[in-house]
Amino acid sequence: MKTVLEMKQVSKKFPGTYAVKTIDFDVFAGEVHALLGENGAGKSTLMKVIAGYFNDYTGEILVNGKTVQLHSPAMAKANGIQMIYQELSLAKPISIAENLLAGRLPTKGTWLLDRKTLIHESKKLLGRVGLGHIDPLVAVEEISQSEAELVEIAKALGNNPSILVMDEPTSALSKEEVDRLFGIINVLKKQGIGIVYISHHLPEISKIADRVTVMRDGEKVATKDITDVTTEALVEMMIGRAAGEMYRKRSSSIKEDVKLEVKKLSRRGFFHNIDFHVRRGEILGICGLSGAGRSELARSLVGIDPIDGGEIHLDGTEIQFRSMNRALAYGLAYLSESRKEQGLALRLSVGENILSASISRYSPKDGKEIVKKLIKDLQVNPAEDHRMIATLSGGNQQKVLLAKWMATEPKVLILDEPTRGVDIGSKMVIHQAVMEMANRGYSVILITSDLPELAGLSDRVIIMRNGHFIGEIDRVDCTEEELLLAANGKGEYVNAIRESR
Ligand SMILES: Nc1ncnc2c1ncn2[C@@H]1O[C@H](COP(=O)(O)OP(=O)(O)OP(=O)(O)O)[C@@H](O)[C@H]1O
Ligand SMILES: [Mg+2]
Repeated sequence: MKTVLEMKQVSKKFPGTYAVKTIDFDVFAGEVHALLGENGAGKSTLMKVIAGYFNDYTGEILVNGKTVQLHSPAMAKANGIQMIYQELSLAKPISIAENLLAGRLPTKGTWLLDRKTLIHESKKLLGRVGLGHIDPLVAVEEISQSEAELVEIAKALGNNPSILVMDEPTSALSKEEVDRLFGIINVLKKQGIGIVYISHHLPEISKIADRVTVMRDGEKVATKDITDVTTEALVEMMIGRAAGEMYRKRSSSIKEDVKLEVKKLSRRGFFHNIDFHVRRGEILGICGLSGAGRSELARSLVGIDPIDGGEIHLDGTEIQFRSMNRALAYGLAYLSESRKEQGLALRLSVGENILSASISRYSPKDGKEIVKKLIKDLQVNPAEDHRMIATLSGGNQQKVLLAKWMATEPKVLILDEPTRGVDIGSKMVIHQAVMEMANRGYSVILITSDLPELAGLSDRVIIMRNGHFIGEIDRVDCTEEELLLAANGKGEYVNAIRESR
């Protein structure tokens, strides 16, 4: 089998710590090599080494059998290495086409943009990721997060890579979209591209990977053929011990009083005549495929986007607001699905980020205390409030973002994909924190494409499809299978709402 990438004894040190320590790692042509490990294990850093992020790594790297220096992104690219980052890198206001061909835009004569070629080339690339139907001239901000993800892949393919790295490509994707991505990956395999695939989602790994390497604390634990390991064994390798049971149904803490009630809420083109309520202490799940309008509803509920009609009542009184700050002042907080965009300030420290939405709430002393407590409760690692947020691993950034909204002590906390990119252990920690909030009388609205999570945490689940509510599932009936059927517009709970009216 042809080896496209070989890393020998590669290390990368940050001040004080080795993020990657004497790692041997190789990738064959036409294979998917999964890279696993807990948050902060060093996966992204290892891949950033081959993406040319650092000029101070040590060890040897061979691409297609030749020793190479990967000291800049350009050098990595020239050697056929393309990476799709955990956080997408597309320029939002700019068209898909220009993003796809950034750095190599076709020209007519010496400087005139060749629009015809631009469109033609873009369409070809979009076709390779199943987006042939999309107009390449629309701006990236006009398409969904999951489509943007596919555009990102198309962009990488445009550079004819022999090695393609995907860092948590499916964390923003629904089940259908994951299947579509896997279809694309299988085609890329046949073309001989070597793929490195980072994910925390183990069922996915067993489905798509040929081999798997597990990292822990910057070091390699082992490389195995996927057929030689069970999921349990992988988890044990990742965390260094056997894992306990993941979900037990929590005992509900719902109180009588309705905290938030929404009546006939609409935003044209996104969601229509939405009615629901959340009680104090309740965790209300919203189930749906991506594009169902869940995040759009959440954005309008917290004043990011406007509404066209309907009412929002908090504690029995109608409230109106036109900005996120006003909504927050009422006690409506939103953990967005995109942590860079509406979440974290990468230039600030962990502590500053945690307090950034609630600074007027606490005295400096109390602020320090609350930061300390949240870092501890959510097990942010490293547990240092002065650390720059940009130096935390993806999963730990996610925990800081959750901490930020928890610090605002909202009446209603809306969580959109709260455990995206988070490892198994940290996931349990986050679930615990969310349940505790509910137990303390806060209301939670949970949007997640992780069905076990939705089934495990929710007291009640509302099903959304194409911008409408189409059914409701009570906690006793709330299983993964029901949710999956419901999200796809099937199953016995679908249309329950409409029929009961
Ligand atoms: N720029 C940096 N400066 C200092 N330390 C860093 C920097 N980038 C990463 N680290 C540290 O290196 C370690 C490995 O981080 P890395 O991002 O590679 O983890 P990961 O395995 O990708 O985790 P996750 O699953 O959470 O994305 C972490 O302890 C992290 O805090
Ligand atoms: Mg990472």
